[in-house]
Amino acid sequence: MVIFMKLRIVSLPGDGVGPEVTRVALEVLRLVLERAGHELEVDQRLIGWAATQAEGEPLADATIAAALAADGVLLGAVGDPAADRLPPVRRPEAGILRLRSALGCYANLRPAKAYPPLVASSPLKADHVAGTDLVIVRELAGGLYYGRSREVGLGSRRKATDTETYTVNEIRRVAKVAFDLARTRRRVVTSVDKANVLSASRLWREVVIDVATEYPDVECSHMLVDRAAMELVLRSRSFDVILTSNLFGDILSDEAAGVVGSIGLLGSASLGGETAIYEPVHGSAPDLAGRDRANPFGAIVSVALMLRHSFQLEAEAVAVERALERVLVKGLRTADIAALHEAVVGTQAFGAAVLAALAGETGTVAAARSAG
Ligand code: IPM
Ligand code: MG
Repeated sequence: MVIFMKLRIVSLPGDGVGPEVTRVALEVLRLVLERAGHELEVDQRLIGWAATQAEGEPLADATIAAALAADGVLLGAVGDPAADRLPPVRRPEAGILRLRSALGCYANLRPAKAYPPLVASSPLKADHVAGTDLVIVRELAGGLYYGRSREVGLGSRRKATDTETYTVNEIRRVAKVAFDLARTRRRVVTSVDKANVLSASRLWREVVIDVATEYPDVECSHMLVDRAAMELVLRSRSFDVILTSNLFGDILSDEAAGVVGSIGLLGSASLGGETAIYEPVHGSAPDLAGRDRANPFGAIVSVALMLRHSFQLEAEAVAVERALERVLVKGLRTADIAALHEAVVGTQAFGAAVLAALAGETGTVAAARSAG
């Protein structure tokens, strides 16, 4: 029996290309939910530089309250060069950091996959990249991003400090997310740290070793982050789930994006809190903003993740993923994923193609449902 749901999400398009890719992603979400008979209500609000300009701060309390009460948050991107000189708490990025922490999202899943039609256009040799299918599980609510941070002194005596702190509980809870996820995949976890130098990393490794004993069916190994950065380029296929800290996860996820071809391809899910956040991994790309040039792929992948993780609509999530792959097979390319001499389409045309492909897919899902 299919139970129809009334789903309420908060949409935070943000800055730069955020609004363009979020618009497309929302159309996809709407179509899928409508076809499955669910109702969708979207509460659109501001974050980042857009919020600072209109509301005086990068994330208003009322926006946090709305997000806490919602079934999911779909975010675009934050950041604007005009805000570069602002103090840290007023920067657009502070909006996203505050949102993650206020919602309690501590586990950030960033899947990176080499799509067969794009393998040839990867900057790496095709046979290195083919078959890559990994997920980075990045700790998102602690570490260097949220440690004590200060700047003292004047002129040549200025001194700036950031600190990385992790507690056993913070490491344990995100490690469990990684091991649980590995159980739905190839059952291999690589925990990445810098335990040969940093104390927070040594604790990280000890706790992960301990959590691993609760998952005897999952293979767990530990790798130093410098080596991991190299292995990602040399042998990206060998990774299944990469578990790592906030800062290392930020860096390695951009690297993984480079390996599979473009940061425009990656979506993410930030889980563990009151409400989950879904957002593309790319930034606001101010140079592309308003020009119909951005790739909406990562934002649409994020919609698939929302369907899967927040709404438990696995068939619909798969339908979105398949529609994306079909559009690639058909040869549609936004500028970031086009090989030399390949024709390029804009954000909207790419989105329209995904919607068209999806119309076929959701038809199939509905038929399978009524048959079953
Ligand atoms: C990301 C981004 C953010 C981060 C910025 C915008 C604060 O780079 O989501 O990877 O560093 O977490
Ligand atoms: Mg980043």
